[in-house]
Amino acid sequence: MKIIAGNWKMNGSRATLTAMMGALSEVKTENKVILCVPFTMIDTESSNNVQIGAQDISSHARGAYTGEVSGAMLAEIGTKYVIVGHSERRMYHDETNDIVREKAKMALENGITPIICVGETMEEKRAGKTLDIIEAGVRESVPEDVDGDIIIAYEPRWAIGAGVTPTAEEIATAHKVIADTLSYMGLDGTPILYGASINSENVADIVAIKNVYGVLVGGASLKIDEFVSIINNAN
Ligand code: 13P
Repeated sequence: MKIIAGNWKMNGSRATLTAMMGALSEVKTENKVILCVPFTMIDTESSNNVQIGAQDISSHARGAYTGEVSGAMLAEIGTKYVIVGHSERRMYHDETNDIVREKAKMALENGITPIICVGETMEEKRAGKTLDIIEAGVRESVPEDVDGDIIIAYEPRWAIGAGVTPTAEEIATAHKVIADTLSYMGLDGTPILYGASINSENVADIVAIKNVYGVLVGGASLKIDEFVSIINNAN
């Protein structure tokens, strides 16, 4: 069983989601499918085949934080998953590991599984810092004394939307560092997803890599045929 999560970012519409849910209801798979959609669509009911998730959560429980959505609000409409610390949040909204950890904590307190993203920029990669960034990302973004499920996503920031992926060896090394860090934190067995430029052609090879429990798919998760092929090819 692999986890196939889609991140729609700020794309799609309720109509697109209805069409996607319809197509996914026909898919027979052992894999767990999660679609993380914009806030305006998260009230869409999850089905047996697909769980609906969010893409962000406030680090605050309530109060004067205009524009933010709390964990309790997400839980109230049945949200089961939320992406935290996606590279676009880190890049455009200055989210640090400390903020990401607070967000993950809020998710857990409300019974929502955080999908915690870590990954290096091209500059960090060139400077040979990839493994340090990933290790610190996990150590600092995962809350202490986790009570509930978490998922980690390794998203090399330079490969997102770029149509290129790291080599299988690079992915294996990154996932091993994440697995070892999680083990040190007492979180053995936490699923680790790979995410960046996944498509129906490369998914089978990538999920076959050790310590890769599934994928977090961006652009390709908006295209019905392509996303269905990704789910099928990941078996
Ligand atoms: P792409 O699959 O479009 O590269 O995006 C990856 C991503 O950011 C998933 O969260």
